[in-house]
Amino acid sequence: MEHFKNKVIYQLYPKSFKDSDGDGIGDLKGIIEKLPYLHQLGIEMIWMNPIFVSPQKDNGYDITDYCSIDPLFGTMEELEELIQKAKQLNIELMFDMVLNHTSITHEWFQKALKGDKKYQDYYILRPAKEDGSLPTNWQSKFGGDAWEPFGDTENYYLHLYDVSQADLNWRNPDVRQELYKVVNFWLEKGITGFRFDVLNVIGKEEVLVDSLGENEKSLYTDTPIVHEYVKELNQESFGKKEGMITVGEMSSTTVENGILYSNPDRKELSMIFSFHHLKVDYDEGEKWSDIPFDFLELKQILNEWQTGMSDGNGWNALFWNNHDQPRANSRFGDPIKYPYETATMLAQSIHLLRGTPYIYQGEEIGMTNPDYSEIDEYVDIETHNAYKSMRLNGVPHEKAMKIIKEKSRDNSRTPMQWDGSSHAGFTTGTPWLNVAGNYQEINVEKELSDGKVFPYYQKLIKLRKKMPVISDGDYQGILLDDPEVFAYIREKDNQKLLVLNHFYGTEYSFQLPKEINDIDAEHLIGNYPDIKLEKEMKLRPYETVAFLLK
Ligand code: GLC
Repeated sequence: MEHFKNKVIYQLYPKSFKDSDGDGIGDLKGIIEKLPYLHQLGIEMIWMNPIFVSPQKDNGYDITDYCSIDPLFGTMEELEELIQKAKQLNIELMFDMVLNHTSITHEWFQKALKGDKKYQDYYILRPAKEDGSLPTNWQSKFGGDAWEPFGDTENYYLHLYDVSQADLNWRNPDVRQELYKVVNFWLEKGITGFRFDVLNVIGKEEVLVDSLGENEKSLYTDTPIVHEYVKELNQESFGKKEGMITVGEMSSTTVENGILYSNPDRKELSMIFSFHHLKVDYDEGEKWSDIPFDFLELKQILNEWQTGMSDGNGWNALFWNNHDQPRANSRFGDPIKYPYETATMLAQSIHLLRGTPYIYQGEEIGMTNPDYSEIDEYVDIETHNAYKSMRLNGVPHEKAMKIIKEKSRDNSRTPMQWDGSSHAGFTTGTPWLNVAGNYQEINVEKELSDGKVFPYYQKLIKLRKKMPVISDGDYQGILLDDPEVFAYIREKDNQKLLVLNHFYGTEYSFQLPKEINDIDAEHLIGNYPDIKLEKEMKLRPYETVAFLLK
């Protein structure tokens, strides 16, 4: 069994984790201070969002220098100390590699702007069309056109994300070599995991064409050449070392490609993040909308990815939360009436699936979306672009704010809630982003003294470590049409695990499929007491339970 199957990875957002020097921004020293806490949780790897030198227009995903630590976060010596102290606690570090684009403040882009031909070929520059319009009609993922004039030349540069993030030209072998050097630099420092940002859009064609009403993303997403590049990246960097863990962030990908990226025979990556299950509350694909999530669609997507990746021997990263998503507790549950039940049901529903679970900071104590009332409380660039564009399109302020409250990426970026003191013990200064208002009820100190969410996560992590049926079993979805319960069976050798997750806040009864033998089932883990496996099951609000079937 591959080494990444029985581990759980913790995603830590450095800016918001723990500030040690009172400047309102989390830092490396703060992370070092909290290592024992992460060790207590039981995780074995930390994925950290980018901490490299950056103007922070997109919170570090706009990189000026790939091989230096931004002084905002600390120094190289502190990073070395972190690597070493984490290792003593059996925790490894996963770095976030943003190889699709650099900040326009990067030396390469600056040299290119000054006319250096070599560096101009590092980026994707194109002239306007004959009629003077932009090189293509593509839209930036953060809103607006994807092209910006390149200095005072005739050319435009492509930016699939913010205008300050210029896409790199992966067709140029020199660019690829430079990027492999970056990965190797961190590898030699002792980093043993890599998360590759938006990796499946690196393979742009030589000739870029307008989208003609088809799905525009398909013009630059999962192009066949991406797989060649990922293989090369593997061979030239992390593939040379044993025991590395890699994960690609794959936007709008397919199961078919997911298998290609993560089937071990292909020598590309250990696993991938896909996002379809987090778009079930988008109205016809529009993120900035306000509709309840579609539970049947959610189940259908999870089931399709579980089955498909399993059939093709691919591997999923399992997650509800990250720094780009609102908090799952607020999104799929009821954290006001059922905070413990919501948090533990959501956790269990994915921790017992086939794949490697990721815990996003604060999830383990049940953190929720904050309740900001002003647009100015938000910092995220995508949020501000969305607000402006909704207002321009005639959406009233109140409606736009309601949508932003539900969908903004800042929902998950609020400071970690350590205790009930001011700013939740995150900083002694003024935090860069306001703390959520519920920090006196939801915080680490409280949770460790008498909470039930953190211990539940500890249990789930231990179970995966100990039980091959969880880390390596087959998956079979059941009750696929049930409107309230997400249910599945995992199986390995002669062990069978049945998992039932109730996604609603009322009592609910349903029949188990006939094949399930309820005699001698053993209760493994659940978030309510007193439950037996019966033909006619009754689940309570947000109840989750797993039974070993004999
Ligand atoms: C990824 C990151 C996101 C960032 C974007 C551009 O989606 O997760 O935070 O804004 O890439 O780098």
